[in-house]
Amino acid sequence: MARRKLVAGNWKMNGSRAALAELDAVAAAANAAPQVDVAMAVPFTLIAAAAERVPDLSIGAEDVHERDSGAHTGCVSAGMVKEAGARFTIVGHSERRADQGETSQDAWAKAAAAHRNGLHVILCCGETEAERNAGRAERVVQAQIEKSVPDNADGSWFTLAYEPRWAIGTGRTPTVEEIASIHAIARAKLRMLIGDAADGVRILYGGSVTGDNAATLLAVENVDGALVGGASLTAAKFVPIIEAAAGL
Ligand code: PGA
Repeated sequence: MARRKLVAGNWKMNGSRAALAELDAVAAAANAAPQVDVAMAVPFTLIAAAAERVPDLSIGAEDVHERDSGAHTGCVSAGMVKEAGARFTIVGHSERRADQGETSQDAWAKAAAAHRNGLHVILCCGETEAERNAGRAERVVQAQIEKSVPDNADGSWFTLAYEPRWAIGTGRTPTVEEIASIHAIARAKLRMLIGDAADGVRILYGGSVTGDNAATLLAVENVDGALVGGASLTAAKFVPIIEAAAGL
């Protein structure tokens, strides 16, 4: 089944109002590549300004709370980011798992909250280096998917991202064979959970994607796009990834 490629950026805890100027060229590149979907997750404080500045570009959040409102000081709900102009959110990113102790169950609840509030979801999974070295990468990813993917997930609102933790921000990537293997296993696991809807769910690869390796990584079977951290911070680095996706 043909799935449109999605190139999604994630600014993490970077950026400023001045940095939003980078989005002008990203939006232009997205408009020039109508066969590719392009999205950018930015810090909460920049969502509204980004959405106003580049209304054609899908702007998203990097996380949301699992509840819609309540006594949760410092947290931000899916409805709040939606009102600010977000169209999607990332959930279950490995940095939140590592820094905030989030679990796959948390990611499940956040995905459900995002969907309830009309946001598209990019849900992350991926093994640590120790888990890969122990030969457990497949089982870890399968278990994460089983615990975090909502029963009603389908491609109209749900995207999975495979991001091996040891590849994030390190300049190291798995081999294409390793990526193909995990993505095939992820697709099979999705099929067990949500049936034929699994065919419509995009599975992104994330971890040290750059303009130099994007064409190779995006051509791997079952890789339906990229989730990009460091190389999403400037248009000069991000646009070549969009162009690589458009050229496939
Ligand atoms: P990176 O980050 O591209 O900087 O490796 C990827 C991610 O965390 O989504």
